[in-house]
Amino acid sequence: KFMGELMGLNVLEEQLKGKLQAKKVLILPGNSDEHDWVKREMGRACVTFLQSIVKERMIIAVTGGTTMAAVANAMTPLSKNGDYLFLPARGAIGEKAEDQSNRIVTEMAEKANGDYRLLYVPDPLSETAYQTLVKEPSIQDVLEQIKSANIVIHGIGDAITMAKRRKTSKEIILKLQSNTAVSEAFGYYFDESGKIIHKVRTLGIQLEDLVSIDHVIAVAGGKSKAKAIVSYFKQGKSDLLITDEAAAKQILRG
Ligand code: BG6
Repeated sequence: KFMGELMGLNVLEEQLKGKLQAKKVLILPGNSDEHDWVKREMGRACVTFLQSIVKERMIIAVTGGTTMAAVANAMTPLSKNGDYLFLPARGAIGEKAEDQSNRIVTEMAEKANGDYRLLYVPDPLSETAYQTLVKEPSIQDVLEQIKSANIVIHGIGDAITMAKRRKTSKEIILKLQSNTAVSEAFGYYFDESGKIIHKVRTLGIQLEDLVSIDHVIAVAGGKSKAKAIVSYFKQGKSDLLITDEAAAKQILRG
């Protein structure tokens, strides 16, 4: 029976790959909306995949969120002589401390025997502060490293869920609703066709930077994220999606 289930997931993976036009898809059993262990399994699958691609002195940039926290939780030394650098992909964009990328990269680096650097950016970031900070040498230094990342690992969220979690202003929530935003990743909000509706102002990786990064890994599961995943993949061409069975089945039904 177990083998049968595994083979079933392989079939789902092929179907989902076609539907999303993704290069590679990995599906874990279950529904992470309902069971935390499913998110933990996605985290472990992500670490196993990292082990298969990582090379010495690579730079790994990571976003925030509970799914990325699960990846950090599952982190182990990636290879014998590591020397990796973990960095937050972007400045803080409204997550609580526990789920902020700065904290997550610290845990990842400690567990992987790697190094880390943090990006200290106020949140929210005003236009004037932004203009000043991008010129700050210590910040420029980290930004350059972020832009030269070899691997990016990121979450995908439902647009309105993420906007509320970030205590986004009423005006912006209205803008998202009237433009029917459905997904969010890297602080960008997208509609069903993948069009950018809104973008949180912060420093770090911009969507267009992803094109030149070798491995972009999206980790997102749960039936509630089905629409968000489809929407994100219209625009953001990540190389690998790690998801769960419930999200996959819901996407294929839609
Ligand atoms: C955020 C990422 O921190 O996590 C977002 O910056 C992503 O891009 C979100 O949408 C997903 O959060 P979670 O908790 O559902 O993994």
